[in-house]
Parts: sequence; structure tokens; C-alpha cells
Amino acid sequence: MADISWTQEVLNILFRWFHVVFGILWIGLLYFFNFVNGPFSKALDGDSKKKVVPELMPRALFFFRWGAMLTFIFGLVLLYINYMAPGHSGDFTTARGHWIMLGAGFGTIMWFNVWFIIWPSQRKIINGVKTGNPAPAEVVTRAANASKVNVYLSVPMVFAMLAAGGHFVHDEWYWFVIVIVIGFFAAAGAYKRAAKVSTEV
Ligand code: HEM
Repeated sequence: MADISWTQEVLNILFRWFHVVFGILWIGLLYFFNFVNGPFSKALDGDSKKKVVPELMPRALFFFRWGAMLTFIFGLVLLYINYMAPGHSGDFTTARGHWIMLGAGFGTIMWFNVWFIIWPSQRKIINGVKTGNPAPAEVVTRAANASKVNVYLSVPMVFAMLAAGGHFVHDEWYWFVIVIVIGFFAAAGAYKRAAKVSTEV
């Protein structure tokens, strides 16, 4: 581990901040789509859908996909500064390095899902609602499944990210298993609860 320069340290702090803020924007909207908007849309009739979907979804998806892109870009920059640039502080062969490979790997799959599956499918779905010519059922299913995969991946991904960023030291294999199992039950529990939230206030 070499000493990092003042510039590197300042850039690191700024880029970590941007990375986490855009991560919040992205994952917050992912949870909104899955736990709020999904059950909400089921309660709408055709006419309401035609009014709500073309106004709500393009706006929400704008922040969603660009949040994902900026999180990813700042993530790659952090990966470079901390693990590859001269004077870097991290090493892929350490516990920190193992956690970041897990977190960045999951995050990259999620970013890919957003840009290459969810967004193209959602464009078809939104246009279908607008024109009254609904997108084929498999497009709706593909978008919903990719979004669900991202919810399941998000829990261990954020844990791994924090483990690396906070320099949490353990990398025994059972930690990976514990985190993935907790992630699975947390996400499954959230879906169950989301379907039953009362609209009484
Ligand atoms: C999309 C792919 C992503 C990549 C390639 C990536 C990469 C990175 C890297 C390299 C670090 C620095 C780790 C270290 O210093 O050892 C980091 C830290 C972090 N990332 Fe990510 N990340 C991604 C997605 C996300 C997402 C979606 C979130 C959700 C909020 C997130 C939250 C964090 C947090 C909280 C830290 C720790 C910051 C700190 O303690 O200083 N990352 N990420």
C-alpha cells in the first residue's frame, strides 16, 4: 500500500460522494418501482393508466437510468483510483479487493439490466399505453423480471460495496453466503409486504 497524494485523496472523497448520491437515486427509484409503483399500477383502470403512465414513467425512468449510469461511471473511476492508478491504496488480492469485486460485479450486471433490458422494454411498454396498442406480454415480463433480479442483487451488492469502501476486513467464504441468504430473504419479504400495504390512512 503506497501513500496517496493530496489530489488523489480529495478526488477520492468527491467521487465517493457522487457515487453514493447517484447510487441512492438509482436504487431508491428501483425500490419505488418494485414496492410502490408495481402494486399501485395494479389498482389503476385502463383510462387512468393512459393518463398516469406517460406522465410518470418517462420522468422516473430518466432519473433511474442516468442515476445508474453515473453510479457506474463514478464506480469505475473509484476502481481506477483505488486499485489501479499509481499510489493506489487497494489490492484485488485482499479482503477489501474481494468485496469490491463482488460488489462491482453485481453492480455491473444491474447497470447492464437497466440500460439493455429494463429501459428498452419500458420504452415499448410506455409507447404501448400511449397509443392504445399494448406491448407484447413477453416484453412486460422481461422488464419485470430484470427489475426483480436487480432488487435481489441490490442487497448483497450494497453490503459488499460498504464492506470494501469501509475496509471491512473479513472475507471468509461463509460471510458471502450469509450476505446472499439475508439479501434473498430481505427482498422476498419486501415484495410480500409491498403487496399488502394498506391504503387506509
Ligand atoms: C454499478 C457498479 C458499481 C461499481 C463498479 C462500484 C465501484 C465502487 C468502488 C471501486 C468503490 C471503492 C471501494 C474501495 O475503496 O475499496 C465503491 C464504494 C462504494 N460504493 Fe460502489 N460501485 C457500483 C455501484 C454502487 C451502487 C449501486 C451503490 C449503491 C448505493 C454503491 C455504493 C457504494 C458505497 C456506499 C461505497 C463506499 C464509499 C465509502 O465508504 O467511501 N456502489 N464502489
